[in-house]
Amino acid sequence: MAWGCSLYLALAGGAVLALLVQVLRWLRADGDLTLLWAEWRGKKPENELRGKVVWVTGASSGIGEELAYQLSKIGALLAISARREDELERVKKKCLQISSLDEKDILVLRLDLTDRSSHEAATNSVLKHFGKIDVLVNNGGRSQRSLFVDTNLDVYSAIMELNYLGTISLTKHVLNHMIQRKKGRIVTVSSVMGIMGAPLASGYGASKHALQGFFNCLRTELTDYPNISIINICPGPVQSKIIQNVFTENLAKSIENSGDQSHKMPTDRCVRLILVSTANDLKEAWISDHPYLAVCYLWQYAPTWAWWLMNKMGKRRIQNFKSGVDADASYSRKKK
Ligand SMILES: NC(=O)c1ccc[n+]([C@@H]2O[C@H](COP(=O)([O-])OP(=O)(O)OC[C@H]3O[C@@H](n4cnc5c(N)ncnc54)[C@H](OP(=O)(O)O)[C@@H]3O)[C@@H](O)[C@H]2O)c1
Ligand SMILES: *[C@@H]1O[C@H](CO)[C@@H](O)[C@H](O)[C@H]1NC(C)=O
Repeated sequence: MAWGCSLYLALAGGAVLALLVQVLRWLRADGDLTLLWAEWRGKKPENELRGKVVWVTGASSGIGEELAYQLSKIGALLAISARREDELERVKKKCLQISSLDEKDILVLRLDLTDRSSHEAATNSVLKHFGKIDVLVNNGGRSQRSLFVDTNLDVYSAIMELNYLGTISLTKHVLNHMIQRKKGRIVTVSSVMGIMGAPLASGYGASKHALQGFFNCLRTELTDYPNISIINICPGPVQSKIIQNVFTENLAKSIENSGDQSHKMPTDRCVRLILVSTANDLKEAWISDHPYLAVCYLWQYAPTWAWWLMNKMGKRRIQNFKSGVDADASYSRKKK
């Protein structure tokens, strides 16, 4: 009897999952269902973010750079940070060309996330310039391409210093200000690697899991401040310089061949969905093409089955990496 019951449950569960995955494919979904609903019916970033002060870290490249462009077009006031000031000046120049913002509406602020002693002064500089911070986008970070057995422990330490401790350090200073105002949004660009696991990025996955755990706990400490939102964004593979900039087996080595990135989700689509998530205060948003999006659902609802699939996908990922193409190159239908 019990056996029959479990069998029926497993079959029913499988059927529901298969149907969900089919519906997601049919919808050509590139975000979770709440997010797609918010894009269709929810608040528009144009209305919610115009005139708001938004501080974006990691704005010199990739997702952060595109965030600066889309936010400037919407009419948000921007503080843009990263280590490379010349790149930030380039981004600012383009923002001024494509938007109606003035010179003083964009503050270029050099910031090293790993230099935690500088974070209070940096926060004060933004406050001095704009008088408030409405949105902090914790976007700066680096990924990893190396197997644990080959990798020096210093790399794990450096990834945590940057992705995890750097992010929560900056958050601490900005949150003080938001608590005084009883208002604000903290958007953190985590990753699908913050909710699942895959080979070649154990340190990166750990740092993103740490961020997810941290912000999920922090959110529950802020129930007296309903107007402060904690927004966790989980993108799958997106076009950017992330692979060029990855950590490898040791801190001195950079990646030899980053491979073609064109099969990944376009940066502008990912950023649009980040802004929709922000405007609608979504607590967690999955932004990804298939098969990763479908795997997120599987991971959430049937983790043991997800392992079976992930081990199959993971083997391909390691083979791809070792043969010098992008680790995720084989899963995309857009590939040549
Ligand atoms: N692309 C993807 O597939 C993907 C998927 C999921 C999540 N994400 C996440 O998205 C975020 C942005 O990455 P991306 O894809 O846009 O990669 P990217 O093109 O390499 O950009 C990374 C940004 O982080 C900044 N950064 C690196 N080290 C820093 C430090 N010590 N202090 C301050 N800033 C630092 C870089 O600027 P400087 O070098 O000038 O400091 C750069 O602006 C990351 O958190 C990443 O984990 C990306
Ligand atoms: C939250 O914001 C709304 C709308 O601005 C406001 O009416 C409400 O008083 C705020 N709540 C708190 C606890 O600050």
